[in-house]
Amino acid sequence: MARPSPRRRGPIVALVILVLAIAAVAAAVLGNRDAPPDRAPQQVQATQEQLQLGRYLARAADCAACHQTADGPAYAGGFPLQTPFGTLYGTNITPDPDHGIGRWTADEFHRALTEGKAPHGRNLYPAMPYPAYHDIPRADADLIYAYLMNVRPSGQPNKKPEIPFPLNLRVLMTGWNLLFFDHDPLPAASQGESAQWVRGRYLTNVLGHCGECHTPRGKLGQLHRDDWLQGYTLNRFEAPSLTPQALAERGWTPEDLQRFLRTGLAPQGIAADEMYPVILHSTQYLTDDDLKAMAAFLLGDTPPKPVPPHPGWPWPHLPRASPNRMDRRASVRTATPANPSADPAIGRTTQRYGYPPRAIHSSRAGPSYPRSCPWFRPRQGPGHG
Ligand code: HEC
Ligand code: HEC
Repeated sequence: MARPSPRRRGPIVALVILVLAIAAVAAAVLGNRDAPPDRAPQQVQATQEQLQLGRYLARAADCAACHQTADGPAYAGGFPLQTPFGTLYGTNITPDPDHGIGRWTADEFHRALTEGKAPHGRNLYPAMPYPAYHDIPRADADLIYAYLMNVRPSGQPNKKPEIPFPLNLRVLMTGWNLLFFDHDPLPAASQGESAQWVRGRYLTNVLGHCGECHTPRGKLGQLHRDDWLQGYTLNRFEAPSLTPQALAERGWTPEDLQRFLRTGLAPQGIAADEMYPVILHSTQYLTDDDLKAMAAFLLGDTPPKPVPPHPGWPWPHLPRASPNRMDRRASVRTATPANPSADPAIGRTTQRYGYPPRAIHSSRAGPSYPRSCPWFRPRQGPGHG
């Protein structure tokens, strides 16, 4: 039998390689189809205690901040996340079989949470903070899964990401993951080794994914691990540096940090803009011990001595926060003196989150740091209105 001469073999090899490459790209693109897994809806049994633990972890991880809108059903998705690449929407993570995760197994859920891979190998965009959630232990992921699989299902369809071609090709995230999805534990900006500090690291870095907003990012959205928690501006507001030195320079003590994370109010500042939902949906529900642990992780086992807050802080008419719960009314009075919707920026935030920004006063957004708060205008009069 005549064999192709070496001269003719070259094009054949090239053709085979081309066909294989096309097949690989087609498989990668098809594998990124957005279809629910092909199996019956899953029934997940759990004890009351497991459901409560699952809810606590879901809150600590602030799933609600991105997976529900202000007036929509719990965990039904639809919340828009603006990124430099386009707008993404948090998805429906209720147990609805067709629009939610009702057909997902615990394995698939764990993989989505910690690896950013949905069923059929579909890559998630890292707006879903799987790089932070990577260290969620399997047992905790299973508790969150059991809780979500027992919330009220919602048939709300998912919104397609609004990302221009070719960035909308999910297969590109394979490259992003290879370049930037570092599986080593996330860094710390403070020093510590106490059990409290270690617990705080899990709550802050992993579940609370605080670094996603408070750490500088590169052009492709990757977090700069070398500048961990050194502050970054995502949208209108700067998420300030949370290193022990920076916090101490702005007057933060462990007690005040706990108070801020519980109520959104502290002598140093009031939770504003994107920090507000963090407290609203997440940290206000944590136990005292867990808030103490977070403060210990932020400031370290030996907190630096705080500089007394800027003269003029706290504002004399700062309302007293209720000690246990985030005090919405107090914040509203502080932030939106006469008419909450008079200011267009306030109107926009109200639309986005379903409540007016209680902002206006924070250790960074106050008169000494006007740049982080473009619409900041000090007002006069009682109750700062
Ligand atoms: C910072 C915002 C944010 C937070 C916090 C967040 N997610 Fe997501 N999540 C997203 C976005 C955006 C998507 C859609 C990503 C995409 O389209 O690739 C997503 C996708 C998912 C998916 C895939 C759903 C599907 O049908 O493809 C699951 C499951 C999920 N998230 C679960 C969770 C859980 C559980 C938590 C809390 C532990 C959580 N997410 C916290 C933003 C977030
Ligand atoms: C979605 C983005 C986002 C996430 C996630 C986030 N923050 Fe923030 N944070 C901000 C922004 C923006 C500000 C500035 C506005 C303000 O001061 O309220 C801020 C302010 C703060 C402040 C006040 C600092 C000061 O001196 O005024 C603290 C403390 C803080 N965040 C801690 C945390 C912790 C702890 C976590 C994790 C549980 C966290 N943040 C998660 C965006 C975020």
